[in-house]
Amino acid sequence: MGKESRQYFSDVHRAQWKTKTGFILATIGSAVGLGNIWRFSYLCYDNGGGAFLVPYFIALFTVGIPLMILEFGLGHREKGSAPKSFYKISPKWEWLGWWPVIFVMFGIVMYYAVVISWCFSYLFYSFKLSWGTDPNGFFFNSFLNLSKGPGEIGIIRTPILFSLIVVWLLNWAIVFFGVEQGIERANKIMMPLLFLMTLVLVGWALTLPGAKVGIIKYLKPDFSQLSNPKVWVEAFSQIFFTLSLGFGIMIAYASYLPAKSDLTGSAFTASISNCLYSLIAGFAVWGTLGYMATVKGVPIEEVVNKSIGLAFVTYPQAISMIPSFSKIFGMLFFTILVFAGLSSSISIIEAFSSSVMDKFHFPRKPVVSVICMLGFFGGIIFTTSGGLYWLDIVDHFITNYGLVVVGLLECLLIGWYLGSEKMREHINRVTDGIRLGRWWDVSVKFLIPLILAAILISSLFNEFSAPYENYPVSWLLLIGQNWMIATIVGSIIMTRYGWKKKEEV
Ligand code: ALA
Repeated sequence: MGKESRQYFSDVHRAQWKTKTGFILATIGSAVGLGNIWRFSYLCYDNGGGAFLVPYFIALFTVGIPLMILEFGLGHREKGSAPKSFYKISPKWEWLGWWPVIFVMFGIVMYYAVVISWCFSYLFYSFKLSWGTDPNGFFFNSFLNLSKGPGEIGIIRTPILFSLIVVWLLNWAIVFFGVEQGIERANKIMMPLLFLMTLVLVGWALTLPGAKVGIIKYLKPDFSQLSNPKVWVEAFSQIFFTLSLGFGIMIAYASYLPAKSDLTGSAFTASISNCLYSLIAGFAVWGTLGYMATVKGVPIEEVVNKSIGLAFVTYPQAISMIPSFSKIFGMLFFTILVFAGLSSSISIIEAFSSSVMDKFHFPRKPVVSVICMLGFFGGIIFTTSGGLYWLDIVDHFITNYGLVVVGLLECLLIGWYLGSEKMREHINRVTDGIRLGRWWDVSVKFLIPLILAAILISSLFNEFSAPYENYPVSWLLLIGQNWMIATIVGSIIMTRYGWKKKEEV
């Protein structure tokens, strides 16, 4: 793009983080989310125990950290949200900025907020251990009122709807007040509390009799699993989701940094902290499962459950078995999930809001208010009896295809069109700490695109081999595929509007 247009963009005033710590905490807040607590623990167990840590940390260092540096560099160099940053690199690529912020805002955060609202409800159910002796029946029948399939939407579940209203009010109240007064402040409160509560939960779980059985199961390596490609695909996909890459979030967050900023060091700090957090939280999950298996006198395999079942069926059952202060144990667990979830959902809302503000120069408060309202209303479909199926299908398509395609195209665009050397030069110029070497160019130009292409091919292969989770193909196409198409159409529409000029943001 021409020098002139770059010039007027640079006139625009931009919000800024108050402190470097605030920025890092907000980044960790975005990364540490619902997925760190139950998804990681289960993945570890399912993919070779401690041996999973090998592909996981390889994925972190080969794809996770280099891509986070790229997103930080992009947002910082172009001083903009994802659409603005891509537009400044080439107007033809503006759509690639809109696409992720649209599918995370009108996709991921709409169901993510619903899962936070379940956690919020369960926080209150912990007061009375309301799930009783049948947490499975309680969750699927009484709470979700689960229908037979995605085609049967059924009724809106009012308890979930009420919790969802509270979750969106909290989201709104934080993002409304802006980068420093809202997001930075909220993360400065939520993150230390989250770490502290997690440590308490881990310490507590480890003192339960039988906890050791769970920990051994969690970490005992089965290296033979490393020859299974599925284990590698799962590790790389998890790194993508857990570091909030391909969401447009890190681009927006880095655009609020001052001219001199330690981009590389921050990417290392935030990514490694996020992965260590997952590892530590796993001790609480597995310690508790070990205890439960010991009390029941069954092998641990019999008490393990996948993702949602782990948090809302197995864990409540374990909570009820805790000998003393079980209600507090339950409240602690669900408060951790609520905090982890909120600090991620606000980052998604900010990624979209900042894009709208950048393009149309509307003031923050009305933009955030309208967006939160849309997010809430759009999410109502996930509060229905068929909501869990819808959530599962939309999540499958967005995380397996949306995020990976965005990451791939980002690397190709920055690596080859702009030139990774140019971006690296910018990052090294503004960073005081670690200097980025040529390894990063190799990573961005070759390694990450190759890995992401392999993941994409493997996902497509699985998609065509058998319908995901045996859902009827017509529903997979109707919900998943059409949802993706709608987000692409949305990004093309947004791209067609002109950029509003010469005004303050
Ligand atoms: N990074 C967030 C999570 O893992 C979205 O939940």
